[in-house]
Amino acid sequence: MFEQVDYKHLQINPFTTIAEDAFLLTAADGSSWNTMTGGWGAMGVLWSKPVCIVFVRDSRYTYTFMEKAEGFTLSFFPLEWKKALTFCGSHSGRDTDKVAATGLIPVELDGSGGTGRIAFEQANMIFSCTKAARVPFDPSCFVLNNIEDHYPRKDYHRMYVGYIDQILVREI
Ligand SMILES: Cc1cc2nc3c(=O)[nH]c(=O)nc-3n(C[C@H](O)[C@H](O)[C@H](O)COP(=O)(O)O)c2cc1C
Repeated sequence: MFEQVDYKHLQINPFTTIAEDAFLLTAADGSSWNTMTGGWGAMGVLWSKPVCIVFVRDSRYTYTFMEKAEGFTLSFFPLEWKKALTFCGSHSGRDTDKVAATGLIPVELDGSGGTGRIAFEQANMIFSCTKAARVPFDPSCFVLNNIEDHYPRKDYHRMYVGYIDQILVREI
């Protein structure tokens, strides 16, 4: 169903893929997992490795899984799944079964140490990452004053750097 692609051969625009298409960020703690829509992120190189960087506010249920997980996945979808992404970005896994509500089908991918990672069958591209670093945003480091405007509730993002283990794309 999916084939693995080398990051050097990826032909996507990271700006539109991340911010306009958005993605599901999914993290598992070994016994459970949660997913949420992400629209802020980065792809690039850090510590000599290809990385994905995601930003998760500490108010998100997914945050508790990101803290415990050994890794995480980013699942990108064809346009017809936009409604599902909007749903997963406006409801919390604390009180909603996002899979039952959207029809998304979870698939398990190998993680490290025998822990599985969750992504979705309907995705057209999946990044599976090992959590390399978790970095809290320290507001005293914001240089421009208007950045603070994003945080009226002081729920600052935590930045998670993931080493990309695998990029899977849907076979045509
Ligand atoms: C298009 C879109 C993009 C989003 N991007 C982010 C993001 O990058 N980081 C974040 O913390 N929340 C983001 N959100 C909000 C979360 O997805 C939303 O609060 C979600 O309900 C959290 O679910 P959870 O409580 O189950 O983790 C986004 C929402 C939407 C609709």
